[in-house]
Amino acid sequence: MKPLIHPTEATYDYIADAIADKGYCVLPQLLHANMNNALQQRVMNLDEDDFKRAGIGREQDFQLNNTVRRDETRWLTLDNSIDKAYLDQMAEFRLAMNRRLFMGLFDYEAHYAHYARGAFYKKHVDAFKGESNRVLTTVLYLNPEWQEADGGQLFIYAADSDTVIESVNPNFGCFVIFLSEQFPHEVVKSYRDRYSIAGWFRLHDPLQAPLI
Ligand code: OGA
Ligand code: MN
Repeated sequence: MKPLIHPTEATYDYIADAIADKGYCVLPQLLHANMNNALQQRVMNLDEDDFKRAGIGREQDFQLNNTVRRDETRWLTLDNSIDKAYLDQMAEFRLAMNRRLFMGLFDYEAHYAHYARGAFYKKHVDAFKGESNRVLTTVLYLNPEWQEADGGQLFIYAADSDTVIESVNPNFGCFVIFLSEQFPHEVVKSYRDRYSIAGWFRLHDPLQAPLI
């Protein structure tokens, strides 16, 4: 897939300012409609077998836990042209943030997520201070005509608190960015199939195997 109209420099300025000011940003739209459509077609056409039940923790610590999360995920890979188009856009996004915020973001990993009816993801943080190299979380939503009553909202909490500072409907094209270590968040129970792409910009971890 050819790169489409990119987010403008002004959009990147706006996002960088929001991250610097409050640590997160919710954009009703970021990418070109054709890109959102292609990603939606792709996720809808993935076979159920392509998805894996998501667990908690990495590698040796990995465990399935029905009470914490019920989504199913599939990593994006460069050998698929649509995945690659999205990963390329995020590479550009990464450079745009590095230029403005000097965050030293090094790479990006992302997976499609499917929340079947009844699925949720309890309050959690994506990275614990000092323990992970995930620094910036992104979520792109791929659900046309989402209604408030469909549930599945993303609640973003103020750091170390039970105060919900943002409730986001997973509307088609909506893009959310937040500092991974700072914001506990949760996906409330969804009453409809809910599709998204969650991704993480990471710092370079010299102890980790080289990235492919
Ligand atoms: C996650 C996550 C939020 C969402 O995958 O870690 O918090 O709204 N996703 O899908
Ligand atoms: Mn999360």
